[in-house]
This record gives sequence, C-alpha cells and structure tokens, in this order.
Amino acid sequence: MIETPTFQISASLDGAVYTFSCRADQTVLAAAESAEVPLPSSCCSGVCTTCAAKLSSGSVHQPDAMGVKADLRDQGYALLCVSYPLSDLELLAGQEDALYEAQFGQYQK
Ligand code: FES
Repeated sequence: MIETPTFQISASLDGAVYTFSCRADQTVLAAAESAEVPLPSSCCSGVCTTCAAKLSSGSVHQPDAMGVKADLRDQGYALLCVSYPLSDLELLAGQEDALYEAQFGQYQK
C-alpha cells in the first residue's frame, strides 16, 4: 500500500503562527480543525471565501474553489476548506477582505 503523504502547514493568523500537519487527502481546513487550530470558516464548500488564505510558499490543489478567480489562485490565494496540499505550506489565513478587494475592488472605484 502506498502511504498518503503528509505535509507540514504553517499558518499565520492575527499575529499568531500555528503549525500542524495535513495529509494530501485532507483539506487544510479539516487538518486545522483536527489540530484545534482556529482558522476562520463558514460554508466549507468553496463558495463564501471566509476561509481565504494567501500562500507564501507551497501550493495546493483546489478544484472546487469557486470563489477565487484563476489569476488570484496564481497569486497564491486559496480557499482552505477545499484546498488539498501538494507540498509543505506557509500561509497567511484570514484573507477574506484582501481576497474580496483583489477580486472586486476594481469595480468599486
Ligand atoms: S468556508 Fe466558505 S469558502 Fe471556505
């Protein structure tokens, strides 16, 4: 049997840094919850963007992240409730407002 890889996640939120491990077949948010790391979430299905984060290193697979445009995914934005790690990750959680601004800010000026 092939073992599922496990990655190390380092998540910053409100000045605190949390580290926990996440299997490749587990969403980052689910892993955070099992490790009792209090990351923001709401719908848990890739729609509301409450769980938005910005990756500073590493990458994720997030086919169901409907709330994030492709070019913003390329910039490192991820919805953690539907993100499966492809590597160790460093990320900044709680980026809902930043993501909103990046996606829609241009329409509000
Ligand atoms: S919790 Fe709603 S998009 Fe992740």
